[in-house]
Amino acid sequence: MSAAAFIKELRHNWKTIGAVAPSSPALAERMMEAAGVWQARRILELGPGTGALTTAIADVMPHTAGYLGIELNETFVGQLRPRFPRMRFECADARNFDFSQVLAAGEKFDVVISGLPWTSFPRGLQQSILGNVLPHLAPGGCFTTFAYWGFHHLPGGRQFRSLLHEMTHGVETTRIVWGNLPPAFVYLARMA
Ligand SMILES: C[S@@+](CC[C@H](N)C(=O)[O-])C[C@H]1O[C@@H](n2cnc3c(N)ncnc32)[C@H](O)[C@@H]1O
Repeated sequence: MSAAAFIKELRHNWKTIGAVAPSSPALAERMMEAAGVWQARRILELGPGTGALTTAIADVMPHTAGYLGIELNETFVGQLRPRFPRMRFECADARNFDFSQVLAAGEKFDVVISGLPWTSFPRGLQQSILGNVLPHLAPGGCFTTFAYWGFHHLPGGRQFRSLLHEMTHGVETTRIVWGNLPPAFVYLARMA
């Protein structure tokens, strides 16, 4: 997607996009390493947007792995589908997407990669999305997302971090990726 098209969507959907630019390849690579996408069998991406993290996932995921991307913005979904024809995208809200549509009984994801703008979400929305998604993550599976350095001290950033601690087995952070705009680090949370 062109920068102009990204900016057009940003102007109309600032609250749900919540970023000034797509994630950089360096941040995408840090997320792939942290999540161990190269050995995943079922991958869920939240908010693929313009496909910055999706490109990295497509590069490293095993050929036999399944992928589902849940994206709220119809324009983005319309562009993602032809770009990644072997991957499945649903235009839906991660807060209330019904995972029984895509997972057979007993099936779970082993990796969740999130590009959602958690810091700009109110606590209730953070909680409902995590509450809808985390039960579908396998024991030992990992939930990975990023936070902009400095913004994680804002109320929304602090609330999100404390929710992650409450709702998962343990939370780790990576070193800062200074080359990202803005600089960012990765949260890696594991399920018990
Ligand atoms: C910051 S952009 C991230 C795009 C891309 N993953 C990246 O890292 O560059 C956030 C994306 O999350 C999507 N989004 C926001 N709220 C959502 C929700 N509740 N369910 C699904 N997608 C959502 C937005 O439409 C937007 O495309």
